[in-house]
Amino acid sequence: MTRLSAITPSGHAHAGNHLGALRHWARDGGPEDLYFVSDLHAMTQSYSPPRLRALTRELLAVLVAEGIAPERLCVQSDLVRELGALTWLLECVCSYGEAARMTQFKAKGDAAARLGLLTYPVLMAADILLQGAAEVPVGDDQLQHVELARSLARRFNSTYGEVFTVPRAVTPPTAARVRDLSAPDRKMSKSTRDAAGTVFLLDPPDLIRRKVARAVTDSSDHSAGVAYLPDERPGAANLIEIYAACAGVAPKEVEFGSYGELKSAVAEALVEELRPVRERVQELLADPGELDRIRADGAQRARERGAHRLSSALRLAGV
Ligand code: ADP
Ligand code: NA
Repeated sequence: MTRLSAITPSGHAHAGNHLGALRHWARDGGPEDLYFVSDLHAMTQSYSPPRLRALTRELLAVLVAEGIAPERLCVQSDLVRELGALTWLLECVCSYGEAARMTQFKAKGDAAARLGLLTYPVLMAADILLQGAAEVPVGDDQLQHVELARSLARRFNSTYGEVFTVPRAVTPPTAARVRDLSAPDRKMSKSTRDAAGTVFLLDPPDLIRRKVARAVTDSSDHSAGVAYLPDERPGAANLIEIYAACAGVAPKEVEFGSYGELKSAVAEALVEELRPVRERVQELLADPGELDRIRADGAQRARERGAHRLSSALRLAGV
C-alpha cells in the first residue's frame, strides 16, 4: 500500500514540521511510502528561483537527516515532464468550477493570481495518481484536494478506461500541533515572515534558547505556577506540548514550578531533539555528491513507478 506525503519548500523546515510530521514519517512510514519535496507547488505565488533551488536541496537533506529511507524520497520537479503531461490529461477531465471551488483558491485567488494557483490541486492529483498512491495522509486544509484527486481518478477511469488507483485521504495519527512562539493563535509555519516565533530545524542552539526565552506565556501573573490550559493560555500550553512531544509524555504529565523552569526545559529539549538532524543536514550539504546521488536515484525510481500509468493514460485518452 503506497502512501504519498509531501512538503513544500516555501521556507525553512521548522520544529512544527519535525514534531508534527517529519519524525513520524521516519519512524512510522511503511516500506511503500513515498515522500516528495513539492517544489513545483512553491511556484504558485511570487518566489525567488535561486532561493527555491536552495530550499529544495536543503529540504531533501532534512528528510534524509530525519532518517527517511533515501529510496522513498523524490523531488517533484525531477518528474516535471511526466507530471506536466499527466496534469494536462487531468485538467481535461476537471471542470473550471471544480477547481475554482477549492477553498484555498477562494482564500488567495483573485484575477491577478497565477493560473497555477487555480490548477495546482490538479498537479497534486497528478503526483498522487502517477505514483498509484492508495492513501494520502493530510490535514483538514488538504482534504478537499484529495477529494478532487479521487473525483478526477474516477472520472478518467470511467471516461477512458481503468488506469488510476482511486486514492483516499487518511488522517495522520494525532501528532503535536506546534504554535508560533510569539503568536500562539497561529501555527508555526515556514511562510511566517517574523521568524522570532519560529524555531527552525537548522537554528543553532543559542538562537533556539533565545527564541524560547522570549516565547509568549499569556499572563503576567506567573505566581499561579505552570498549568496546562490550552484555551486560556495557548502560549504556555504550546510550550508544554513541545516539551511533552520531545520527552514522549502526555502534556498533562508535564509539571514545572515556574515559567522560567518550563522555558529552560523546553529550550534544552528542543536543542537535543533537533541536534542530530541539524548535524546530519550540515554533513549532507557539505557533501553535494551524496545528495545528488540520492536525488537522482529517487527521481529514477519514481519515474519508473509512474511510466506505465502515464503511457496507458495517454493511449486511452487518444493521444
Ligand atoms: P508549513 O505550514 O510550515 O509550510 P507544510 O504545509 O509544508 O508546512 O506541512 C508539511 C508537514 O508539516 C505537514 O504534514 C503538516 O501537517 C506539518 N506541519 C506544518 N506545520 C506544523 C505545525 N506547526 N505543527 C505540526 N505539524 C505541522
Ligand atoms: Na505553508
